[in-house]
Amino acid sequence: VAKMTSPSPTHSDSSGSSKHDSNQDSWEIVEGLRGVPASMQEPDRQEGLLLKRRKWPMKGWHKRYFLLEKGILKYAKHGADLKKGKLHGCIDVGLSVMSIKKKAMCIDLDTEDNIYHLKVILDAQIYEPSSAEFSVILCRLSLFLDNVHKCLNTYRCLLSFPASDSHKRHSQQLSATGSHSLVHQVSNESRASIPESISEFFDAQELRLISSVVTLARRRSTLPSPCPTSSVSLWNILRNNIGKDLSKVAMPVQLNEPLNTLQRLCEELEYSELLDTANQTQDPYQRMVYVATFAISAYASTYHRAGSKPFNPVLGETYECDRPDKGFRFIAEQVSHHPPVSACHSDSRNFTFWQDVRWKNKFWGKSMEIVPMGTTHVTLPAFGDHYEWNKVTSCIHNILSGQRWIEHYGEMAIKNVNSDACQCKITFVKAKSWSSTVNEIEGVVTDSNGKVVHSIFGKWNESVFQGDPPSATCIWRANPMPVDQEQYYGFTQFAVEMNELDSTLRPLLPPTDTRFRPDQRLLEEGNPEGAEEQKQRIEQLQRERKRVLQDNSMTHQPRFFKKSKDDTWVSNNTYWELRRDPGFSKIDFPVLW
Ligand SMILES: *[C@@H]1O[C@H](CO)[C@@H](O)[C@H](O)[C@H]1NC(C)=O
Ligand SMILES: *[C@@H]1O[C@H](CO)[C@@H](O)[C@H](O)[C@H]1NC(C)=O
Ligand SMILES: *[C@@H]1O[C@H](CO)[C@@H](O)[C@H](O)[C@H]1NC(C)=O
Ligand SMILES: *[C@@H]1O[C@H](CO)[C@@H](O)[C@H](O)[C@H]1NC(C)=O
Ligand SMILES: *[C@@H]1O[C@H](CO)[C@@H](O)[C@H](O)[C@H]1NC(C)=O
Repeated sequence: VAKMTSPSPTHSDSSGSSKHDSNQDSWEIVEGLRGVPASMQEPDRQEGLLLKRRKWPMKGWHKRYFLLEKGILKYAKHGADLKKGKLHGCIDVGLSVMSIKKKAMCIDLDTEDNIYHLKVILDAQIYEPSSAEFSVILCRLSLFLDNVHKCLNTYRCLLSFPASDSHKRHSQQLSATGSHSLVHQVSNESRASIPESISEFFDAQELRLISSVVTLARRRSTLPSPCPTSSVSLWNILRNNIGKDLSKVAMPVQLNEPLNTLQRLCEELEYSELLDTANQTQDPYQRMVYVATFAISAYASTYHRAGSKPFNPVLGETYECDRPDKGFRFIAEQVSHHPPVSACHSDSRNFTFWQDVRWKNKFWGKSMEIVPMGTTHVTLPAFGDHYEWNKVTSCIHNILSGQRWIEHYGEMAIKNVNSDACQCKITFVKAKSWSSTVNEIEGVVTDSNGKVVHSIFGKWNESVFQGDPPSATCIWRANPMPVDQEQYYGFTQFAVEMNELDSTLRPLLPPTDTRFRPDQRLLEEGNPEGAEEQKQRIEQLQRERKRVLQDNSMTHQPRFFKKSKDDTWVSNNTYWELRRDPGFSKIDFPVLW
């Protein structure tokens, strides 16, 4: 973890001034260590009472019971509550900028969404650490900053929730009061992960009351079945296809993961909050840093996914993803079969995102190179920006033997087509056979004269930092992986939710939605034989539809996308309208499966 010597520059004033600068003589920013010795012990857990300042209601300092473990700082009203999981809040220390005022024994944690002000209690009856003890605590806190990095994958902050309906798994859509949309995911039947942005809110409320206020969209925390063990010999399939475009080669379903390319495009929005932040950032160079980091974050989920490939959508297949909790809606459609082209579009109040993508997959004997074509677009309404960038080349190594791993390399150039004030170039560094450069990215934001204004570095599977190593700030960090992800195709939590089909959604979707695709569903349920049978049937149906079109000298017309002047596929903005009125059940669709 890089040192964090400067406050997170994420707020709308990106001039670099901050609350800390004005009274530097008293506030000190806690720095992490770079290059943690491998032998370093994980710090012990720490717990006890601290004072926490609250803004509303009952403004002032309140005693709270804190527990710091594995880099996560949780707190509750009492120690007993904490044990029961009745948390008031939860802070990922590694993602925060921490500053301290040693004399006054104050700790200030800026998580970006919230600023926590904490103070050691100097009340003798409760707990009064000596100054030395306090230094020890602080030292441990800073060790945590380094450990968090390693621990993040395994530990998540989860908050116990009294499940109102723990037997059935279906979506419960309520509506939030006030301006906050407090829709969030429940990790599984009995637990909810609480976004930090609302932890301040929890502090003011008894947890039991929340279920009456908060909108709860329950999403599944795991796939219904782990991935079946595969006995397919890839070599037998691939040896006759060296150097060919593999999108034309039929592959057995056992090589697939239960998601398709349209859903993979939606996965690129997992970290859409970076665009939310960009839409609030006045400074164009800083804004570019967020957009660039968003572009990099799209690759994070691929790290654990080298083992299998997504399903190829059939022509006319669609996929929607409505995420009120994240503030965006997404649609995608397979608009061309040969060559396969997937188009997608996502709207939010903070951004618009669209792209059309086709890939050329080339097998080179040991590895498969995936060369993407097409451009990704993002617009930010607040500034009239229109960003464009290309994807880099991906390569799956060791495709036939043992440990498959994925690498991305090449240059990504981001420009704002509406202004030449700044641009960004990101290099996905090609690894030199397992050297330390594996998965590294580096980039620069330059002004119209080519002068470097900001630099970023990091790993696409891990985190992105801004600035130079001694004083860099973390801009983004990949979410921790679910436990047992290896048995579940290496899916992130977001990916697990992609293909979920619940009873409230079912009647609203068009019949062409990927969630209804039987082969993919059967694979998800752990039935690869059934899936293979369905896959062949679906491919046969596609060939028949193609023949009918050819016989009638017709070409396929996509439903929700049209070709724009510059030959890219853009949404024709009809999907959500038609979904609402008259509803897809009243519209004719081709039978895809
Ligand atoms: C949900 O979380 C509980 C509490 O930790 C755990 O016991 C249970 O196995 C989890 N259920 C699933 C389906 O993951
Ligand atoms: C837009 O971004 C802001 C700031 O990050 C966020 O609070 C808000 O929820 C976002 N709005 C939507 C609709 O996503
Ligand atoms: C994003 O920009 C648009 C246009 O200025 C604005 O309407 C919207 O509220 C912005 N989002 C936030 C959260 O500021
Ligand atoms: C990112 O990739 C590197 C190189 O493979 C690996 O050492 C590291 O553990 C990965 N990070 C995460 C968070 O998975
Ligand atoms: C949207 O595109 C489809 C397919 O091209 C077409 O049938 C439909 O009329 C279009 N709608 C609008 C409003 O352009």
